[in-house]
Amino acid sequence: MSEAVLDAILNRATVRSYLDKDVSDEIIEKLAKAAQQAPFTGQMYAFIYTKDQEKRDILSEEFGHFIAEAPVFILFCMDFRKLEKFIAYKGRENASSDIQMLFLGIQDVAYAAANWVTAAEALGLGTCYFGRVPLFASQMSEMFNLPDRVYPVVGMAMGYPAVKPNPRPRIPTSCVLFKDEYKDLSEEEVAEAMTHMDAGLIREGYYKKLSAKIPRPENGEDTVGYDSYGWSEHISRKYARQAESERLKEMLVSKGITL
Ligand SMILES: Cc1cc2nc3c(=O)[nH]c(=O)nc-3n(C[C@H](O)[C@H](O)[C@H](O)COP(=O)(O)O)c2cc1C
Repeated sequence: MSEAVLDAILNRATVRSYLDKDVSDEIIEKLAKAAQQAPFTGQMYAFIYTKDQEKRDILSEEFGHFIAEAPVFILFCMDFRKLEKFIAYKGRENASSDIQMLFLGIQDVAYAAANWVTAAEALGLGTCYFGRVPLFASQMSEMFNLPDRVYPVVGMAMGYPAVKPNPRPRIPTSCVLFKDEYKDLSEEEVAEAMTHMDAGLIREGYYKKLSAKIPRPENGEDTVGYDSYGWSEHISRKYARQAESERLKEMLVSKGITL
């Protein structure tokens, strides 16, 4: 890997403020080609982009105010429909279960969307993903004319950064990279990882700037101020809340995907 590519990957950070500067369709096509060049299992994806201000205004209300500001929004969809046409081209039918299709389809989309981010970064662009779009499959289907068996996996705002943030912290690599066998983390390692994450994000004022505090899942007064609200508080509150699985299941079924 050339140092330039490695640098682009290691210095990337999600961008949440954008210049009022168009991204040409030619650049978007280049990024789509870079996304397509990711490893795939069935090329089960569709990338739908819009520069339409009205659409971006509507999307910004649900997912993040800066979508209205970023010149481009891209919806990364899992596209079983297209693969099934390719299978039918040879007179066959898809006999895989939708659970299996989900595993593979999400991977196809994710690797492609990750390539898109890296390629965009290399061209001086910034991006931000939006992970709640699967819960809004009906609205996305209406807005982007998605047929059955095409399902929104992740959204993305893209544009030239107004502010380019420094890379954000990660848990120590010793917590994720194991040689030969899995290693369970000790309490000390967990504490060290959380302290490192919290310190980095609190120093940036990350959650404060985004006003992103998640309400306490437990009853009682919230005594944690933004000066001590870090990643460990955020992630534990997020996952301790009731998940939206039922809604997700309903949305999947509404698009012809059965579990
Ligand atoms: C699947 C997924 C969904 C995300 N959803 C959102 C989102 O809804 N809003 C947002 O501002 N950032 C979102 N992000 C960006 C993450 O918050 C961000 O990547 C993470 O905090 C690490 O920060 P960094 O990318 O700057 O290193 C999402 C990222 C992923 C991978």
